[in-house]
Amino acid sequence: MASIASRKSRAERFAAFVRRSGPYRWVGLYDVTPEEVILLGFSGGAPPAHPRFPRGAGLTGAAIARGEAVVSNDVATDPRYLTAFDTTGSELIVPILDERGRVVGTLDVESAGRDAFGPGEVESLSGLSVSVASLFTGISVRTARPADAAAFAEIYAPFTDRTAVSFEEEPPTAEEMCARVRRTLQWTPWLTATNESDVVGYAYASKHRDRAAYRWSVDVSAYVRESFRGRGVGRKLYDELFGILRRQGFRRACAGITLPNDASVALHLAAGFEPVGVYRRIGWKLGAWRDVAWLARDLDPDDAGRPPSEPIPFSSYDDDP
Ligand SMILES: CC(C)(COP(=O)(O)OP(=O)(O)OC[C@H]1O[C@@H](n2cnc3c(N)ncnc32)[C@H](O)[C@@H]1OP(=O)(O)O)[C@@H](O)C(=O)NCCC(=O)NCCS
Repeated sequence: MASIASRKSRAERFAAFVRRSGPYRWVGLYDVTPEEVILLGFSGGAPPAHPRFPRGAGLTGAAIARGEAVVSNDVATDPRYLTAFDTTGSELIVPILDERGRVVGTLDVESAGRDAFGPGEVESLSGLSVSVASLFTGISVRTARPADAAAFAEIYAPFTDRTAVSFEEEPPTAEEMCARVRRTLQWTPWLTATNESDVVGYAYASKHRDRAAYRWSVDVSAYVRESFRGRGVGRKLYDELFGILRRQGFRRACAGITLPNDASVALHLAAGFEPVGVYRRIGWKLGAWRDVAWLARDLDPDDAGRPPSEPIPFSSYDDDP
């Protein structure tokens, strides 16, 4: 997991700093996704009993629902405490919000004693949490590089052999992913989203079909690292991607989505796609026939009816976002 090392190590350094700032036995930072809460880094000996748990669970679930800090000064009598350690007396959860007010992370501070967190501690630890918000919210988008391929392979792998999201059945190697990136970049963009120099997602376009008259149409796809889902990375990648595709002279973007996939359908609808239709039972994967929904959008709605000029291949296009 070399590609997530820098976020994790920064989270661990921050957790160690917070732990030294008071009588705290364990401090952790968690990513919050639409479904789950996933440990990013911690300080204080052992990992917790639950390195990932459902978004609604525990004191963390209460802090996410309220969008503000939640304290339990006696976890032994608090049914909300999701027992991480038998030795914890008090727990404080501080939610970390993005610019749209979505909870994207949490700071979890545990103390062995009871009554550890008064208003002063809550205020100072909430203040400290602001200094790591960029670990959860800072997203940049740039053209993909061969060195990103290992991270792409890691993000994509689970969708090949464990789900029907992709109709590939074997995870491609990093070398194969690298070859795909190089091939794709000849004609269309492949973009990388990063946080703290870690690759957290990618999106790319490819030819819709080979025959000549299709050459203004592309297929698009996006994959976001699990811990970063639901915080606008897919939207940001697509906004950049469609801007470049439009300037290259492409006119129409299409997307095929194996059903069900609520997140992908939501992303494409939010990005201006309209449903075209559903290919019923078009693929056999993991023991079942699968339906694929197709969606499409104009890339340049003002120009949709006029004859097109030739698209500029991405390899000769000079406009890195
Ligand atoms: C699909 C995927 C790329 C979306 O990226 P993302 O960064 O999580 O999505 P965003 O945070 O940008 O959200 C885009 C829109 O979808 C909505 N959305 C995101 N996740 C959702 C979910 N699980 N359920 C319902 N809606 C969801 C958001 O609310 C947002 O709408 P809004 O802008 O109107 O608020 C990502 O979830 C993913 O990688 N999934 C696994 C791989 C996959 O299925 N790829 C697509 C293959 S077709």
